[in-house]
Amino acid sequence: LIMPTPWIAPSILSANFAKLGEEVESVLRAGADVVHFDVMDNHYVPNLTIGPLVCEALRKHGVTAPIDVHLMVSPVDRIVPDFAAAGATFISFHPEATEHVDRTIEKLDLVLIMSVNPGFGGQKFIPAALRKLREARERIDASGRNVRLEIDGGVKVDNIGEIARAGADMFVAGSAIFGAKDYAATIKAMRQQIGGK
Ligand code: DX5
Ligand code: ZN
Repeated sequence: LIMPTPWIAPSILSANFAKLGEEVESVLRAGADVVHFDVMDNHYVPNLTIGPLVCEALRKHGVTAPIDVHLMVSPVDRIVPDFAAAGATFISFHPEATEHVDRTIEKLDLVLIMSVNPGFGGQKFIPAALRKLREARERIDASGRNVRLEIDGGVKVDNIGEIARAGADMFVAGSAIFGAKDYAATIKAMRQQIGGK
């Protein structure tokens, strides 16, 4: 089985929101593959962030990289088409936050596993996520489908290797990248751990 090229997805939750366009440009210039975009509603999670307007603003700013919208809102269903219209590439949500999952999902191309409690950046990786990754990896491989396996929360240079070995091929990292002085060096160090280019 050929694993696809691993993707590193910096979470803009830890970026400087006062200069978001520049932050996204610099992290992409530093080698990021995907922009991870955390949407929180102060209801499903105890935090409030950004909506479709900001996604659209990044597109208008000239961002062409994939935007990976992670919805931590409830109910989720109504907002999904708004993000699609705003230029989202991937949209993920928490299954218990949907009222009509059959109407909301047409085709599954991404499974996201949380490795922290949703709501905030900068938390510690929960090791039980490794077992969930292994199980999800087995199911994805058995399905023979082209489905990305994304891990979100507490990913750092020093644990990304183990996380990759558990089966993830898409890695969200917020504080580890935006909290570093040198985004490119951090992304490069991460790639070295997961056998990327
Ligand atoms: C948490 C968010 C994450 C967060 C990850 O609810 O879904 O995407 O930004 O941040 P770090 O990498 O700092 O754990
Ligand atoms: Zn996220």
